[in-house]
Amino acid sequence: MSLSNKLYIENINHKYKDGRYILDDISFSIKEGETVTILGPSGIGKTTLFNIIAGIIVPSSGKIFIDDKDYTGKTGVVSYMPQKDLLLPYRTSYENISLPLEIKAEKKEIIKDKILKYSDEFEITNLLNKYPSKLSGGEKKRVELLRTYMMSGSLMLLDEPFSALDYITRHKMYKWFNKIKSELKLTCLIITHDIDEALILSDKIYILNQKPANIVKEFKIENKDILSLEVIEIKKQILEILK
Ligand SMILES: Nc1ncnc2c1ncn2[C@@H]1O[C@H](COP(=O)(O)OP(=O)(O)O)[C@@H](O)[C@H]1O
Ligand SMILES: [Mg+2]
Repeated sequence: MSLSNKLYIENINHKYKDGRYILDDISFSIKEGETVTILGPSGIGKTTLFNIIAGIIVPSSGKIFIDDKDYTGKTGVVSYMPQKDLLLPYRTSYENISLPLEIKAEKKEIIKDKILKYSDEFEITNLLNKYPSKLSGGEKKRVELLRTYMMSGSLMLLDEPFSALDYITRHKMYKWFNKIKSELKLTCLIITHDIDEALILSDKIYILNQKPANIVKEFKIENKDILSLEVIEIKKQILEILK
């Protein structure tokens, strides 16, 4: 294990109580500042792995290290956005974003300072007093992402973050998210079934496949232009593996 790993997943195996064997010996690492994507088809075990890394599920065996400390089965360390991260309808954007800070019993003024410090960057300053029903899909996502960021973990864990959006909005969000990631120097683990999303957002892609699931291949992405020949070639290889 290298000392500079933000996250290190060591030999994770998981069987649900019904005896179904879902994850088979998953190991990988993420370095500080990197964005890594776990890409795999629906039903393969991505959300199960997400819940294990977030500490919500204790794996049958294996360990989760964050900054070289064993956090297996412990919540509250990473900032995470679940697959269906719904905004509370009776709270404004501001009140939704403040939730993780309220849970930590932060003072009202500190909460306000923190939210206002980032609301421009997340392009939601004009949305803070609106209720979720008045927001577009992309606006809701930006509010959800700031709420996640307010959990203040040093790793952002995102499960299918942009899947619910239409094609054009999704691609606008990718561009915006890449900018935010470098400005805030985020370290991210993204979980998705969307190949383009993985190619555009990540430094590295791990392909999760087979039943029980394991990492069958790893790709380093140096060029983020999905229309470049280099990336099209990687896309072909990924499609070949997942077909
Ligand atoms: N709590 C659970 N108990 C038993 N099986 C589960 C549970 N949660 C998920 N599964 C099963 O585990 C498999 C992987 O699910 P999931 O991790 O949600 O996959 P993905 O996120 O890749 O679509 C699926 O077959 C699903 O039905
Ligand atoms: Mg899932």
